[in-house]
Amino acid sequence: MNKLISIPVKPNLRGTNFSAYHLMWSNFLNNIWLIITVALMTFLPLVVKIQAAEMLPASLRCEYRVNPQGIDEPQPRLTWEIESDQRGAKQTAYHILVASSVKLLKQNTADLWDSGKMSSGNTVNIPYTGKPLASRQQCFWKVCVWDNDGQAQWSETAAWTMGLLRPEDWQADYISFRDTTPVWTNTEKLFLPPAHQFRKEFNAAKKIQRATIYATALGIHELYLNGQRVGDARFAPGWTDYHQRAYYNTYDVTSLVKRGNNALGAWVGDGWYSGYIGFGLLTGIGTEKIGRNTYGKTPALMAQLEIEYTDGSHEVIPTDKSWKATGDGPVREGDFLMGETYDARKEMPGWAKPGFDDSKWEPAILASKNSSVPATFYEYQNPQKPGDAVEIKGRPIDLDFKRPAKLEAFPGLPVRPIEEIKPIAITSPTNGVYIFNLGQNFAGVVRLKVKGPAGTDIQLRYGEMLYPDGRLMNDNYRKARAMDYYILRGDKSGEEWTARFTFHGFQYVEVTGFPGKPDKDAITGIVLHSDTPLTSGFECSDPMANRLFKNVVWTQRANFLDLPTDCPQRDERFGWMGDAQIYVHCATLNADVAAFYSKWLREVMEAQRPSGTFPGYCPYPFQHGWDFGTAWCDAGVICPWTIWQAYGDTRIIERCWPYLVKFMDWRKSTSTNYLGIVHGNDWGDWLSFGGKTPLDYVDSVYFAYSANLMSQMAAAIGKQTEAAEYGELFNGIKSAFNAKYVHADGSLAVDTETAYALALYMDLLPPDLRVKSGKILADKLRAGETVDNSGMTTGFLGTRPLLPVLTSVGENNLAVKHFQSRKFPSWGYEVDQGATTIWEHWDSYTKAHGFGGMDGKQNASMNSFAHYSFGAVCEWMINDLAGIQSDGPGYAKIIIKPHPPTPGSNPDHPPINWVKAHYDSIHGRITSNWRLKKGRFELETTIPANTTATVYVPAASAAQVTEGGKLLAKVKGIRLLRVEDGWVVIAVESGSYCFATN
Ligand code: BGC
Repeated sequence: MNKLISIPVKPNLRGTNFSAYHLMWSNFLNNIWLIITVALMTFLPLVVKIQAAEMLPASLRCEYRVNPQGIDEPQPRLTWEIESDQRGAKQTAYHILVASSVKLLKQNTADLWDSGKMSSGNTVNIPYTGKPLASRQQCFWKVCVWDNDGQAQWSETAAWTMGLLRPEDWQADYISFRDTTPVWTNTEKLFLPPAHQFRKEFNAAKKIQRATIYATALGIHELYLNGQRVGDARFAPGWTDYHQRAYYNTYDVTSLVKRGNNALGAWVGDGWYSGYIGFGLLTGIGTEKIGRNTYGKTPALMAQLEIEYTDGSHEVIPTDKSWKATGDGPVREGDFLMGETYDARKEMPGWAKPGFDDSKWEPAILASKNSSVPATFYEYQNPQKPGDAVEIKGRPIDLDFKRPAKLEAFPGLPVRPIEEIKPIAITSPTNGVYIFNLGQNFAGVVRLKVKGPAGTDIQLRYGEMLYPDGRLMNDNYRKARAMDYYILRGDKSGEEWTARFTFHGFQYVEVTGFPGKPDKDAITGIVLHSDTPLTSGFECSDPMANRLFKNVVWTQRANFLDLPTDCPQRDERFGWMGDAQIYVHCATLNADVAAFYSKWLREVMEAQRPSGTFPGYCPYPFQHGWDFGTAWCDAGVICPWTIWQAYGDTRIIERCWPYLVKFMDWRKSTSTNYLGIVHGNDWGDWLSFGGKTPLDYVDSVYFAYSANLMSQMAAAIGKQTEAAEYGELFNGIKSAFNAKYVHADGSLAVDTETAYALALYMDLLPPDLRVKSGKILADKLRAGETVDNSGMTTGFLGTRPLLPVLTSVGENNLAVKHFQSRKFPSWGYEVDQGATTIWEHWDSYTKAHGFGGMDGKQNASMNSFAHYSFGAVCEWMINDLAGIQSDGPGYAKIIIKPHPPTPGSNPDHPPINWVKAHYDSIHGRITSNWRLKKGRFELETTIPANTTATVYVPAASAAQVTEGGKLLAKVKGIRLLRVEDGWVVIAVESGSYCFATN
């Protein structure tokens, strides 16, 4: 029945698990236009004739984000999801309207873009092709979709704004403070300068229509307007190679600017730009071997507030010489790795409000006015030929101000406070020392609450673990001091403090110098990470696996902080490429990382080495060892391929393509007769046990894999010739690989589990040898098992494919057995030792041997308790055990193929006889809930609207399978495709289904 309805205002629930409330509130506070939108949408019915909603377009996103501000893509891409309870719901057409105001959009006057009614089922990444979008343009949009019955339904309104698209849009200049300190050259002593504050008062003479701040820094910044924090992003603008490129963030501050006197304030700290980063200090590389001043010496800020008055006039408040600066505020030290020292006695109440007396502050200077600072930069150089040693060489540099060559809108998701954690216990190993146990290892900061006399100095140390005697263990932080100090101002009503310029990876906080005995309120953990919405859920009948799933997700959260890092605690926190390629698929399952990786992949492409290879970590501040490692460099190809697969995003391929071609040229030029060689850093199957998988074998496998992925990506972006060429290259490598390594019985010349797992996973064996080879791998694992060893010998590279490969060759029971094993090495072993995150080593800590590892020889300094690589097993948990997979790129077609183990096949552990899992794909939620009950297999599955799926039910014949209690032939809308190898294969449309076997 046709009727006039108002559009329901549904909060966008994407990302609820992390911070939907947060996001909603910050949107509310910061986006006055959004408030107006919501109000209008609620109270004014949209006068469009539409049908009652059986299919609703929802979760509107632009460039993967909800109502983003400051986009600099000329053709931003729009995405929505279809919500419907009906089976077989399909979008048959869409119509997008984009207007410059809510009012015009309400009237369906699309002055920016009217797509017209498009006969298309597509809902993902539809490029805007309306009027060219100018800097600052506000864009309000909605979409109408038609279902299979021709009924139409409008979405709610969403929005985006454009950033500053032309260099001349910037009136602001980089400002700084006069920095007279000499270049630090002392590697024995830390140099931790204070963070600086900047301020500027201004008068807004007329009624304000709209106010926006665009801001960037060399270093990190936090902005304030009239004393209120602008936005809630931490560590903006993120880590880039600041010489080549930096990002700016855009904030709507309409609600913060007042008619009359106003004040802008900014905190600016060293961050990645000039603070201690990575292992520079530890390994004696980088600027003056001190580990800091990597990109420059003095942090700088560039921001401009743009005000639009209701009378149509404009005003710009840019950073310039008229600002004031001070380094005499409370943040005496503020360094990522070393920590923060906050002297509350030096606070200046009202410093970011109008009327503050800043006469003691210095005038800010243009950053370019700090004089030239000659220094020496040390890093490794590649040898002239393989086999020769790498050596450290110094070269002269100047640490003066350099404007980044490019300034781009921040394309990622900001780091935000996401969750708070209360301590579960306080212990006191020695007098006056209190250790707070937060019960969970994570990355972030704390909120300290304290009351006491002025000048009381409280020291906070962080650790992921305790020694058996209860003392804090932080040997694994290496040169990262990771200590904060808070000096009380003596406020009678109590004081609260949270660090701004640092974060730590920790579960325990050791507090020394607290006035009196603290209670649990004294410390609260604040979880920080890039705000990538969580997208997965997993539960099953083995409690160990449920804890493991949590550990994987927590480890991802602890390491997805602006870039995917190896670890959040010690002096690395690098975007290690090997770890990234191993884990990227798993990452896409656990969170919506489309925007996050789109951002980091810019850093990866930009870090390409002169030879064409990709470095070991990105950004690449300094070279350590060779500038690449086999399987690490291939992340340059594997990560964009995976993002395409997860989100159907072909633009990421197009953007990366020239770099990928250059990389493949390098790969071809270094190979011999289609095979890989021994070159680069010898990381190989990092942290494996027993026999090593030779580097040239690993190099061949990854050469083949990269060629194969290149061929697929070329086809996806319409480069058919290249697709054929890379396909031929893949076949050539495969033949050479088979000739050198593969025997007729399916055995391999390299006899390690990793060699088998990689060759099978990367599709290098002829089809008729797959199962034979898989059986040899399975037998190796079986033969290797002893009473106290699981038999698994794989390292970072081999572990990721191990269980998927076993399941794919018909050894699912063995895969489940290893998954559930509690013997060393295994995931269960780690959980049994008390892990709340994934560890770098299986035995990073053991109840029996402490931190020395099983053999007592573990290097405590290489012992991270939040390292995600081994957590890649989660991909098998979702893809294979639960059975949720994409059929081709972007989950437009889905495979549901659960793999229950044979009952009784793993008597040592709680039987896995049910699994409940979901994945929030770019089309909506996919679920797979299965259980084995008295010989019956039941599967409840939900396929999102506007997608289809192939469901595999384990049964010998179609006659054994029912859906909703009815035989398959009797159910409308589902189609039996075939019966193969013990699976009844069924095609379904979207909707919820309940299959069962007899
Ligand atoms: C990191 C790893 C990384 C490796 C290179 C380590 O220090 O933590 O995860 O991939 O170096 O082998």
